[in-house]
Amino acid sequence: KGLFTYDPGFVSTAACESQITYIDGDKGILLHRGYPIDQLAEKSDYLEVCYLLLNGELPDAEQKKAFVNTISNHTMVHEQLISFYKGFRRDAHPMAIMCGVVGALSAFYHDSLDINNAHHREVCAYRLIAKMPTLAAMCYKYSIGQPFMFPRNDRGYAENFLRMMFSTPCSDYEVSPVLVRAMDRIFTLHADHEQNASTSTVRLAGSSGANPFACIAAGIAALWGPAHGGANEAVLTMLEEIGDESNIPEFIQRAKDPNDPFRLMGFGHRVYRNFDPRSRVMKKTCDEVLAELGISDPLLKIASRLEEIALEDPYFVERKLYPNVDFYSGIILKAMGIPTSMFTVIFAMSRTIGWISHWNEFHSSPNRIGRPRQLYTGAKKRDYPG
Ligand code: CMC
Repeated sequence: KGLFTYDPGFVSTAACESQITYIDGDKGILLHRGYPIDQLAEKSDYLEVCYLLLNGELPDAEQKKAFVNTISNHTMVHEQLISFYKGFRRDAHPMAIMCGVVGALSAFYHDSLDINNAHHREVCAYRLIAKMPTLAAMCYKYSIGQPFMFPRNDRGYAENFLRMMFSTPCSDYEVSPVLVRAMDRIFTLHADHEQNASTSTVRLAGSSGANPFACIAAGIAALWGPAHGGANEAVLTMLEEIGDESNIPEFIQRAKDPNDPFRLMGFGHRVYRNFDPRSRVMKKTCDEVLAELGISDPLLKIASRLEEIALEDPYFVERKLYPNVDFYSGIILKAMGIPTSMFTVIFAMSRTIGWISHWNEFHSSPNRIGRPRQLYTGAKKRDYPG
């Protein structure tokens, strides 16, 4: 006490310097390497944003071609990883499988990994960006008992992922360009968000010099919780629980009750207190996807009515609780036919670039192990009886 600051929840503690992402929560600004997220979502694409986050600058045409080519060349996973999948129950949550298989990559690439070597760190980032969609789609295929689909290196990143999810050896999934673009936008909008719980976890795990694949597995574990990345899945579970528009007032009431732990999933944000700039783009994308698919799903109607009611309710207005990125992403993913249990996996795939960019930044500059202190409130020294 007196020697350090007590800051539960790290509300006012900066644990590092970073040049990757800037957020102004009051003004609803999110910049990656200086570029506004809405411009990146509209004009760029996910792999270009990956390059930007990792390298600090947008690639020129040659650099982009080379980067896309490198990522395509790393999409396959080692055949022995299939045994890892087979060790899981078919009904295992895909995030549980992802924690396991991404951590297991440590055992495949440890030999050539010197974290003090910039080139090795770069290759490790390429491997992770490239393999995450393959690993994620394998989780889904395993859960429904279908054969794993190999990546196709002649397809774009988002298209390849959707193909590995929905194609079978008997039928090729032809995906509409609107859905490919929407998927790519979901990846882009989730790519990085400075020192959130999972990124801080990756930095902290990385600060000990741990293997980067293990660090990313730690990030996946931190992301899984419903207060963080698990919220997109929780939004859909909540909408199903509400079940009918007539039940919305009851759930709004519960969310406002201080004695009820229930919260409106997909609402509120620690940093954004006016609006989440990602959710504006996500809402627009959501409208495009629903129009393209001609979907009229009762859950989607509940979602838009819930949003209307909450945005007018003084409780939410006074506390500045707005729909966040996870509110709309869940709706888009559901409309695309992606099962709810895969939502957080898709968040993890998208955020991998943010995690590895922060890990790389940490190791590219002078650093020391992270070691938070505590305020001890336990028993005073006492003697063992007898
Ligand atoms: N529903 C009802 N009340 C809420 C909600 C909500 N979703 N979020 C915050 N509040 C209330 C909270 O009860 C508190 O009220 P009071 O001042 O009367 O005690 C006030 O708003 C401030 O909340 P807080 O808990 O201090 O806010 P926080 O910054 O610690 O939590 C949050 C941020 C995102 C965890 C929280 O808003 C939440 O649990 N939201 C629902 C889960 C969610 O959608 N998470 C995704 C976040 S965005 C993507 C990501 O980061 O992964």
